[in-house]
Amino acid sequence: MFKTVGAIAVASCVLLLAGCGPKAPTPTVNDSMTKVMAPHTQTIWDITSNAFNAKGDGLDPSKISSADWARLEAAGRALRDRALVLAEAKHVTAAAPGEHIMGQEAAGAASKIGHEWDAANATRVQAMIDANPALFAERARVLAEAGDAIVKAAPTRDVRKLYEVSSGMDEVCDGCHQKFWGTDEPPPFPR
Ligand code: HEC
Repeated sequence: MFKTVGAIAVASCVLLLAGCGPKAPTPTVNDSMTKVMAPHTQTIWDITSNAFNAKGDGLDPSKISSADWARLEAAGRALRDRALVLAEAKHVTAAAPGEHIMGQEAAGAASKIGHEWDAANATRVQAMIDANPALFAERARVLAEAGDAIVKAAPTRDVRKLYEVSSGMDEVCDGCHQKFWGTDEPPPFPR
């Protein structure tokens, strides 16, 4: 009897994990970038850039407090968890109606004056993601791994790992932005 109840409980948990239970809609890329990736990456960069050693080639452990490590761990976890949501989503939505994509006006203005600046607007970004969802998921997983590495570095205060991840983070972001945002460059100045 108890065994049966236990088995049912386990089965329904599995269903929930698989997304068969009542579920919240998958957050958009735009929501993830503006509310999760940007602020938490900033936290990581702020703490690490204040902790450079005298030579500037690594981090000085004494400059990272326990509170800092707690913030780093939380930031890493937030990045990891949201990146995994994006990596595992059945369908990734670039932006919901009304969500603003950075650079979208510039893209419009540039095309009006005959410039080839192909950056963001939701339709373009969506088309780029839909054309290669597997690569999008792969790039999201790279970010999830970076977040996870920080979560794992925190309990042992592994400054070498933190330095490595923090200084490579920009490339992790760009690795997806170049493919799916169209550009990482600012738009050309309209003449
Ligand atoms: C798996 C793909 C992917 C990864 C990894 C990724 N991004 Fe993005 N990001 C996008 C896409 C696509 C856009 C353009 C669409 C948009 O703005 O929502 C974007 C746009 C942004 C924007 C502009 C948001 C706006 O206002 O329109 C910011 C800021 C940003 N990303 C920050 C980051 C940071 C910081 C990282 C790394 C820690 C990162 N992203 C990693 C896919 C990614």
